[in-house]
Amino acid sequence: MTPEPAPHSQTVASRAKIVAEDVEVFYGEKRAINRVSLTINENEVTALIGPSGCGKSTFLRCLNRMNETIPDCRVTGSVLLDGEDIHTALDAVQLRARIGMVFQKPNPFPKSIYDNVAFGPRIHGLVEHPDDVDEVVYRSLKRAGLYEEVKDRLQEPGTGLSGGQQQRLCIARAIAVDPEVILMDEPCSALDPIATARIEELIEELRDEYSIVIVTHSMQQAARVSQRTAFFHLGDVIEVGCTEDIFTSPREKLTQGYITGRFG
Ligand SMILES: Nc1ncnc2c1ncn2[C@@H]1O[C@H](COP(=O)(O)OP(=O)(O)O)[C@@H](O)[C@H]1O
Ligand SMILES: [Mg+2]
Repeated sequence: MTPEPAPHSQTVASRAKIVAEDVEVFYGEKRAINRVSLTINENEVTALIGPSGCGKSTFLRCLNRMNETIPDCRVTGSVLLDGEDIHTALDAVQLRARIGMVFQKPNPFPKSIYDNVAFGPRIHGLVEHPDDVDEVVYRSLKRAGLYEEVKDRLQEPGTGLSGGQQQRLCIARAIAVDPEVILMDEPCSALDPIATARIEELIEELRDEYSIVIVTHSMQQAARVSQRTAFFHLGDVIEVGCTEDIFTSPREKLTQGYITGRFG
């Protein structure tokens, strides 16, 4: 049964963008996610935290059907994007244009800086005329805070940039197809503190236009960048709420234990 999307309430600022219900994920016989229900709001950063192996990346991949690319991985339950079932109402390619992804290790294509950003708009047929391609590439690089640093070497390989620049290039590549949601799986864990700070500022800027879900092993990062936090433990969501509440007055013992560093 597909529930209607919740009616927009005038009194509630945040609107549900993605509603995941009873999502379970199996790798072969092994269950990695146990009936997780979680809502991602529009124009918010939602942080997924929890100890290594608790299922954060697996859950994140449910949101744009990336688990389908993993052999033996099976997903059940429903995920609605603006009220539409992502498994039945949308095809995976269209879905991934609407829900972009940025990975832990910056992974630019072995192409020029320019072509990394132009790739998505070209394959999705969003642009034809070379001037339009230029426009999208420049706009996306500016939005990702990278344009000034690379404008004189757009034809050089993306892989020649520093780690932090490569990650901003991957963000530019993701936003070039005009997505609605950006998923980020530990996007700063390969970066130094300065590059990390740049990405965190960028996340804050991008929030006014996109819904963002970020997996992070850093509680400080979750506290800095997110408005909502979900704490995962052994494949369950133990607690979800306003980030400040999760870090200052968690309701659950397991959450308390994790945020005070007793485990994880
Ligand atoms: N491709 C895979 N094949 C089999 N098991 C996997 C695979 N990816 C993750 N798992 C298992 O699923 C569980 C959750 O993993 P993961 O989502 O990567 O956790 P996290 O991102 O929180 O560290 C772990 O037990 C992990 O070993
Ligand atoms: Mg992970």
